[in-house]
Amino acid sequence: MKIRVFSMLLLMLFAAISEGFSVHGPAEPLIVQLGESVMLPCSVDTPLPLEELEVEWKRTDSETMVHLFQDGDSRPESQDETYSGRAEFFADEIPKGNFSLLLVNVTRQDRGKYKCVVHTRQETREAYADLVMEWLVVTGADEAVLCMRVRM
Ligand SMILES: *[C@@H]1O[C@H](CO)[C@@H](O)[C@H](O)[C@H]1NC(C)=O
Ligand SMILES: *[C@@H]1O[C@H](CO)[C@@H](O)[C@H](O)[C@H]1NC(C)=O
Repeated sequence: MKIRVFSMLLLMLFAAISEGFSVHGPAEPLIVQLGESVMLPCSVDTPLPLEELEVEWKRTDSETMVHLFQDGDSRPESQDETYSGRAEFFADEIPKGNFSLLLVNVTRQDRGKYKCVVHTRQETREAYADLVMEWLVVTGADEAVLCMRVRM
């Protein structure tokens, strides 16, 4: 019997910035099926002032804007339409420095490289996390299963 296996590799790199400002990516393997939701983790050590904060979730393989938080709010007008209504922060978590993104209705086209960039307006320093999602297709089976693995 043939089995279709999608394995999605989630490769996370994180850059630590001096002065206590760093961004963390996922620590645990994630598994998601097509059509379901996945949380792309991104957080900083210490909360940052909201009025200075800008957070960008981008595709680095296409420069597509997945989600933008600027001037204290989400900016859906800056978001690529393929992610419209599908990518949200957890609003209650933003003041805590948690900029994890919930991506719903995962599609095959979501495969790619994602970057979380966090910076403050007054400070030009940036920190980022890169997520690389890939899969391998074997064959068969009713349900497509994406298996995301994390390497740090
Ligand atoms: C997710 O997919 C379901 C089923 O196709 C659809 O009803 C729903 O509106 C979609 N949600 C979003 C946010 O795209
Ligand atoms: C960020 O918020 C999400 C949703 O509440 C939660 O699942 C996740 O554990 C949080 N991450 C951190 C680092 O607190």
